[in-house]
Amino acid sequence: MNEQEHYFTADPASAQQRRELAVDLVGRRVTVETAPGVFCPDRLDLGTSVLLREVPDPPEHGDLLDLGCGWGPVTLTLATLSPEATVWGVDVNRRALDLTARNAARLALENVRTSEPDDVPGDLRFGTIWSNPPIRVGKAVLHDMLLQWLPRLLPGGTAYLVVQKNLGADSLHAWLGGTLGSRFATSRLASAKGFRVLAVHHHLAPDEEPA
Ligand SMILES: C[S@@+](CC[C@H](N)C(=O)[O-])C[C@H]1O[C@@H](n2cnc3c(N)ncnc32)[C@H](O)[C@@H]1O
Repeated sequence: MNEQEHYFTADPASAQQRRELAVDLVGRRVTVETAPGVFCPDRLDLGTSVLLREVPDPPEHGDLLDLGCGWGPVTLTLATLSPEATVWGVDVNRRALDLTARNAARLALENVRTSEPDDVPGDLRFGTIWSNPPIRVGKAVLHDMLLQWLPRLLPGGTAYLVVQKNLGADSLHAWLGGTLGSRFATSRLASAKGFRVLAVHHHLAPDEEPA
């Protein structure tokens, strides 16, 4: 498979293509389904595991976003940790969306919505965003995507992005700092196993109450 094919494969996987994978999520061994044509179908990606280990607990309520959900490890984690929140697993790959929805159903997580980017209601704002973003799509596409979603963080909310150091984590950090404007502050939350976890915080205005 072409290295980037998983970003564009459209059709849900057939029953023959799907297979079970046992992974540890939120301290529990669970069995999920994955398939060829999605990101890292044979294991929990190392960058994703760094992200999940380093992030603080998500808000308990509201709308939470996993940008680029793949087969769903981040969405499933958010939905498990915040059962009263609505977790949006967003991806351009319909096979990935189908797997995330199936995995949410397997784990009896009723608070997961899967969606292509354009189908997420435009007025939704997110209490947090967790993402292992698609770096390999190239800088221009990645930057557009981040500029589309990060401003949809609620004031007081923080986005957490895991990026491989060798794939430009530090230049992305600098770009975010220079691009998002004074209401946003980007910092490095953690550095482990060749990955950085960047935190993008949306400041409250002086007269603003947290949502
Ligand atoms: C590095 S993978 C992470 C997948 C999953 N979160 C994980 O940790 O295993 C990035 C994901 O972003 C998706 N993606 C690519 N372009 C996107 C876009 N414009 N909007 C949303 N997701 C996108 C890819 O299809 C892929 O599933």
